[in-house]
Amino acid sequence: MTNDSTEAVSDTIGGLYKHIRGLLLGAGIDNPAFEARLVIEKRTGLDQAVLISEPGRLVPIAQKNRILDDIERLRRGEPLHRIFGEREFWGLTFAIGTETLEPRPDTETLVEAALKLFGAPPSAILDLGTGSGCILLSLLKEWPSCEGLGVDLSYETVKVARANAQSLGLSSRARFICGSWADAVGTRFGLIVSNPPYIARDVIPTLERCVREHDPILALDGGEDGLDAYRKIFFSLERNLLPGGRALFEIGFDQEESIVRLAEKYRCSARCVYRDLAGRARVVEISCGDK
Ligand SMILES: C[S@@+](CC[C@H](N)C(=O)[O-])C[C@H]1O[C@@H](n2cnc3c(N)ncnc32)[C@H](O)[C@@H]1O
Repeated sequence: MTNDSTEAVSDTIGGLYKHIRGLLLGAGIDNPAFEARLVIEKRTGLDQAVLISEPGRLVPIAQKNRILDDIERLRRGEPLHRIFGEREFWGLTFAIGTETLEPRPDTETLVEAALKLFGAPPSAILDLGTGSGCILLSLLKEWPSCEGLGVDLSYETVKVARANAQSLGLSSRARFICGSWADAVGTRFGLIVSNPPYIARDVIPTLERCVREHDPILALDGGEDGLDAYRKIFFSLERNLLPGGRALFEIGFDQEESIVRLAEKYRCSARCVYRDLAGRARVVEISCGDK
């Protein structure tokens, strides 16, 4: 955005709103009015009521420039949460970096399943492929007596998860390390959770643009059939689960049968499948050695 074009844009909140809504509409963005409002709210700190009741209110130049930069990125196809660098999950705010998957609402099914499964919280949780730390940290918020370890192959992501633990006041109970699945984990846990990459490689180019271009490939790519990460994790699952412990895995909408079969191949058993709000199989509960 050049200075000339910035100067031509209204300095009032109402005028700016109309201008950016038009830009988003012209770029074919879904819900242009909604996205325009979110950007204005985020960058000015003012809510929708002010936009409606005080359209003549002036927006400081620094805020206006920030808003126009955000709109430019939105028009180029960047998702809003990536532009803001954070996303809500389980009612909490998680920062995300360039190598971090944006937490998705479907993954809350895994948190719900864990809370349903454990009447009394497990003493410790292992989260494999922790990303922003959203699953582990949400569970630690719910279970104040519990501790957890998150593992991710991306060091940038581990740093983001640590920062999230800090901002949520959970640093004393959450540890994050960089490593491949449970390779460097020598202890056992009552609960293992994981939302591993599970998209079959040849499906990735067909995903929505905002996913295939902006979510990190390490978080998506599940190998030829989408099951590579499950194979590696199932291989050592028994070693890391306490007797009577449980593992909860997020799965793709069409992977229920393959995951149940795969678990059996690795001497584990699928005990229950949890469905998301759309009724799709989303989480599989697995045990080892105590069928
Ligand atoms: C689908 S994302 C899930 C992130 C987060 N748990 C969530 O639900 O939003 C999968 C995560 O696994 C990580 N990952 C990929 N390969 C890995 C490996 N070999 N070992 C550990 N983590 C890995 C990715 O970096 C990514 O953060």
